Amino acid sequence: MSSERLDFPEGFLWGVATAAHQVEGGNFNNQWWQWEQQGKLHVPDTARVCLDWWHHAEADFDRAKALGLNALRLSVEWSRIEPRPREFDAVAIARYRQLLEGLKARGLTPMVTLHHFTNPLWFEARGGWLHDAAPGLFARFVRKVVEELGDLCDFWCTINEPNIYALTGWVLGDFPPGGQGDVPGALRVLGQLIRAHGVAYTVIHRLQPHARVGWAQNFNTFDPEHRLSPLDVAVTHVRDLLVNDLVPRAIVTGDVPLPLVLLTGDVGEARGTFDYVGINTYYRDLVRFDPTQPGELFGKNVPAPNTPRSDQPVTGTGWGEVYPQGISRVADELKKANKPCYVTESGVADHADRLRPWVLAKAAKAMHDALGRGAEVKGYFHWTLVDNFEWAEGFSTRFGLFALDVPTQRRTARPSADLYGRMARANGVTKELLAPFGDEVVRAAFPSRQ
Ligand code: FCB
Repeated sequence: MSSERLDFPEGFLWGVATAAHQVEGGNFNNQWWQWEQQGKLHVPDTARVCLDWWHHAEADFDRAKALGLNALRLSVEWSRIEPRPREFDAVAIARYRQLLEGLKARGLTPMVTLHHFTNPLWFEARGGWLHDAAPGLFARFVRKVVEELGDLCDFWCTINEPNIYALTGWVLGDFPPGGQGDVPGALRVLGQLIRAHGVAYTVIHRLQPHARVGWAQNFNTFDPEHRLSPLDVAVTHVRDLLVNDLVPRAIVTGDVPLPLVLLTGDVGEARGTFDYVGINTYYRDLVRFDPTQPGELFGKNVPAPNTPRSDQPVTGTGWGEVYPQGISRVADELKKANKPCYVTESGVADHADRLRPWVLAKAAKAMHDALGRGAEVKGYFHWTLVDNFEWAEGFSTRFGLFALDVPTQRRTARPSADLYGRMARANGVTKELLAPFGDEVVRAAFPSRQ
């Protein structure tokens, strides 16, 4: 293979990822809308019409197709499909059928996420994920979705980032229900989400034996600030265990180590319930021991100095070093699970598109390296196609290949859109393709040639 070119295996998926509440608009029946109405975002904003995908997603599907992509990850909104317990909305289901048909017609393989951070209000009123019945209620919804949409999709992502859902909602307080410093609560929620994933996997496979079912795990790379400091190493290890390892380990082996299992509860039934692992990865943090931070598990995250940083959130915890290299570290690690993986999210908050080309080149290099070492990486879903509603940050941070002017809904391609389209169409990366973006971007994918 020429070192001037990074080739990818035939059939590799080049897609974009989205989530219902971030793009559809008009989702008034879930806990996020309520949270926005209570003014709990970091910015005075709400999801509003978003990108109006509920009415016009097809125009963005056309954009994805025109770039030459072959896949698109979206989520279905539980509160639309089951607005009241056991009442399923035929109109909402019909619209999702239309969306999936629209993707197929454009040659875009759909990956459908069944839970991406939002819950129906009726589910919240019963106690949300902490209620004993939650995994069963989710499984009932999943069964209905697969019965109704299964002829159009067999590629499912059960739950998006259980770890981030628990961390932001119970420890950091940025997401509903807004808990802070409640590590035991976060662990209880994680246990429920792992069990819910497990039953969803079983329900889907009963209906669709050939389905590909996995979940999307957020992997945040942590390294000790001082590798020779045993305390930095120890607090890094604890973060890694809780944030990155707990859920994959539970789903691969059915085990959660003591004493954590006392809070998560038994997850044995989730053992082996995955056909692939979805990797969402954005950042790396160095971790410093900090005895003044018991609520943060005696550690403080510090981004490595002189490393790429994205646009930052307005308030709240800052985001770490932009680290697409994490993809290869995670993919290497996952080889022992003996199942394929997909990068289900990778991207950067970058209004001016100053870093995104570098992220794309570096992500391609990371996947290519991992493939060369025997990891089974089968696709890449960039987060995201068009700037969208970024949860606590509202529309203040911009992850799109296309920029969105919120009031007019006008989309404008950033230079990265063209680059990503060329990568997808070439099923690979060449020096020529990266050259217009400068030496640093070329070096991201071809380090030895410069
Ligand atoms: C991930 C979320 C996704 C989006 C990106 C930027 O953690 O899954 O919805 O917000 O971050």
